[in-house]
Amino acid sequence: MANIYSIHDALQKHSIKLMVGIVAAVSVGGLVEIAPLFLIENTIEKVEGMRPYTPLELAGRNIYIREGCYLCHSQQIRPFRDEVDRYGHYSLAAESMYDHPFQWGSKRTGPDLARVGNKYSDDWQVRHLIHPQSVVPESVMPSYAFLATTPISGDEIAEHLKTLRLTGVPYTDDQIANAAADFAAQGNVDGAGAEFDARWPKAASRDFDGNPEQLTEMDALVAYLQMLGTLVDFPKIVPDADFNR
Ligand code: HEC
Repeated sequence: MANIYSIHDALQKHSIKLMVGIVAAVSVGGLVEIAPLFLIENTIEKVEGMRPYTPLELAGRNIYIREGCYLCHSQQIRPFRDEVDRYGHYSLAAESMYDHPFQWGSKRTGPDLARVGNKYSDDWQVRHLIHPQSVVPESVMPSYAFLATTPISGDEIAEHLKTLRLTGVPYTDDQIANAAADFAAQGNVDGAGAEFDARWPKAASRDFDGNPEQLTEMDALVAYLQMLGTLVDFPKIVPDADFNR
């Protein structure tokens, strides 16, 4: 009578049979692990408050990627007590659902930036980016002073929104049609106005770089940094708030 041991014995001694056996075992394991991820809607828990980046924030994010800020900064707070004590609530999958590519990172020469939004004033951010050592004397962060003098235009930003929409970011036709105007409006000294606010909930609009004369790359980068981690209202949604105690 063939028992499990003799089947095993036969497989071990016959390379073709063994290979077929391995492929069968790996396929089942793979399917169980991978298939649920294709149903991505089920993988990412929906969270109130998340919205796609505004045109100006998106431009800031593009600068963040262009300048390689991710080489020194992560944007993912791990669910460990020391991380949560230092940076705030651990990151949720939904918080990077509109990030293409995501900026989680694993290298932390500088601190995690997932919740740096509203931690400092705009003025602090601008000074820090121009000359990090002027606010943090021991800093090894390089200077990005040129951002403050590099003008930025929203002429192409609608194309970026459209491209992101192809990957599944739910930008509306209205948001795309008004992208260039909203791009400039978000940097207005007096705010961008009611239409902008309705299109982009929770988006701050002001002169970010301290130079109302000109829209610069600094405006875009600071607009981006100041909204990081601010969209989700944590006390409302977190079931295990105990973690923070
Ligand atoms: C060579 C590594 C390095 C690079 C590249 C770098 N940083 Fe930093 N960053 C640091 C270090 C170290 C600190 C901590 C000291 C300080 O505050 O300057 C820091 C701090 C910061 C802080 C303050 C964080 C906090 O919570 O106090 C912000 C914001 C920041 N960096 C943004 C940026 C941006 C935006 C870029 C890209 C334009 C960038 N960094 C590029 C190393 C880097």
